[in-house]
Amino acid sequence: MDFLELVQKRRSLRSYKPDPVEQKKLDYVLECARLAPSWKNLQCWRFIVVEGEAQKQALTTAYAETNPGRKALLQAPLIIVLCAVPAESEVYEGKDYMMLDAGLAMEHLILAAAEQGLGTCWQGLFSEEKVREILRVPQDVRVLAMTPLGYPAEERNPRPRKDLSQIVFKGSWGSSDS
Ligand SMILES: Cc1cc2nc3c(=O)[nH]c(=O)nc-3n(C[C@H](O)[C@H](O)[C@H](O)COP(=O)(O)O)c2cc1C
Repeated sequence: MDFLELVQKRRSLRSYKPDPVEQKKLDYVLECARLAPSWKNLQCWRFIVVEGEAQKQALTTAYAETNPGRKALLQAPLIIVLCAVPAESEVYEGKDYMMLDAGLAMEHLILAAAEQGLGTCWQGLFSEEKVREILRVPQDVRVLAMTPLGYPAEERNPRPRKDLSQIVFKGSWGSSDS
């Protein structure tokens, strides 16, 4: 599978089989996250691996009630919670590189999971305070996102994306001529 095929294969999946994720595969995706690039190589990210039923149920409750991601969080054997330590990144010219760095690491994990035949789904609609409490995350650490991790119980067609002509400019903003 080349990189384009991998990127095409990855979808946000919201239905999972109960089959466990092999430790080797979990280690693999976490290693891929660990090797992500970051601002000044500060590596602000932390990952919490959640597998207990009670904790999964609590995280689902912390998640917005109207969202289909709830089912995914409950069904998947694992939930990976993305945290970040603000003191291990910087805001430069108003840009919070912590968000970029942590997002990069999480996307490494997510693409590695797709390569291993595992499903994921970024989840951002949750109460940070509730998740902080459930997982005992200190106040000086941010809880940024989570994803279920497990074997998919569904296949999904790609969602539409903007054309390259809408998102790529040549030479200057808005220009299609170089
Ligand atoms: C930062 C971020 C947060 C997201 N939060 C949620 C979420 O809370 N619930 C959900 O079901 N999907 C969530 N998504 C998934 C997006 O809806 C999904 O990536 C988008 O619709 C494109 O679909 P695809 O990932 O299948 O290509 C999130 C994605 C990102 C990148």
